[in-house]
Amino acid sequence: MRRIILYTGKGGVGKSTVSAATALKCSELGYHTLVMSTDSAHSLSDAFEFELADEPTPVLDNLDGLEVNVQSEIKKNWGVVQTYFKTLFSSQGLDNVVAEELSIFPGMEELFSLLRLIRLSEKYDVVIVDCAPTAGTLQLLSFPEVMRWYMEHLFSVERKLAKAIRPVANRLLSVPFPEDNVFDSIEKIYNGIDRLSQILTDPRTTTVRLVVNPEKMVLKESHRAYTYLMLYGLHVDEIILNKIIPHEVQDAYFSEWLSSQSKYIELAEMSFSPLPIRKLKLLRREVSGIGSLKEVARGLYGTGDEDPTHVRITHSPMSLKRGDDKFILEIMLPFASKDELELFSKGDELAVVVGNYKRIITLPTTLVGRRIISSKFREGKLTIEFEGR
Ligand SMILES: Nc1ncnc2c1ncn2[C@@H]1O[C@H](COP(=O)(O)OP(=O)(O)OP(=O)(O)O)[C@@H](O)[C@H]1O
Ligand SMILES: [Mg+2]
Repeated sequence: MRRIILYTGKGGVGKSTVSAATALKCSELGYHTLVMSTDSAHSLSDAFEFELADEPTPVLDNLDGLEVNVQSEIKKNWGVVQTYFKTLFSSQGLDNVVAEELSIFPGMEELFSLLRLIRLSEKYDVVIVDCAPTAGTLQLLSFPEVMRWYMEHLFSVERKLAKAIRPVANRLLSVPFPEDNVFDSIEKIYNGIDRLSQILTDPRTTTVRLVVNPEKMVLKESHRAYTYLMLYGLHVDEIILNKIIPHEVQDAYFSEWLSSQSKYIELAEMSFSPLPIRKLKLLRREVSGIGSLKEVARGLYGTGDEDPTHVRITHSPMSLKRGDDKFILEIMLPFASKDELELFSKGDELAVVVGNYKRIITLPTTLVGRRIISSKFREGKLTIEFEGR
């Protein structure tokens, strides 16, 4: 079995702690487990009290840990293209530092780190990924589609053109023309991203778990994250509600905390339904070292053989059905609101825009060229009907 679980959530909610404890539990159940962190501000080493490196390092029986060196992943994957961009931007009179900044796209750090999953996931039964805070993770989501667009619309044309016109172009144009190795690099990344997307969007292999705390801002950010993860075809199968103050805390100082937490616990249960929620109380102290991670694992999964790798909910975020004389495409977009939702279609592409995020869905061949009869958005579900004949 190969299983990948990604943990993400707002900064400081407990992603690293939950990742480490879950990995520990998986290894105890006999799975050959890797826990890896893609967040450049690593804290897995702190959680384990064990120095991890850029290659898998044994932590315990059955359990390896890895903290990806984000900068070296960028250099490895993007170095050649980045050098080209820098020359390009400098040739336009941009300052070196600005050129350097512009050659890095948002989401790239997380994306290139996750490319490591392609090889690593073959070697383990379970890979637990401690992701960057939600913002970083979400930015990565649109990057594969941006890349695909460039490849299909721009670089395939440019490449053919390049061969013919480079000798002349370099003399005539003020903009340097990319060499073959730039195209090769982009093609390699493109193929990698394609493979990664297949792995990440296969709900039998990969599920995402959102770590939250019973607080207003944390829940708000997580609701948005949930929508976008779905929009990009990732499968969220559990919410971890962490840092719940136990009711035995009777100190008057905490009474307001207790009542506000119970309000937000209720809100979380209601708003994420039907997603299962796993609760974890705030321990007496910070979580650090194997002993306290075991305590967290007990809090999350009990003392029995409950298996964290089980996929807890299997609905697909997108479905296509055939009606009598129409096709019905359904996309789950919980928490999106009707006013921020827009739809555009062109050729085989359907663009769903929610606020600042845009998803381009390449329609299945059956739907290409069919007219959209209606679209409606109700109870977190976008339903688009296409003519059937
Ligand atoms: N249930 C808990 N009880 C007590 N302390 C906790 C609990 N969960 C997390 N912590 C503590 O909260 C702090 C933040 O946790 P952690 O590093 O796991 O969060 P994170 O989401 O990975 O943060 P970052 O966004 O910085 O990566 C740590 O000091 C950790 O020990
Ligand atoms: Mg962390």
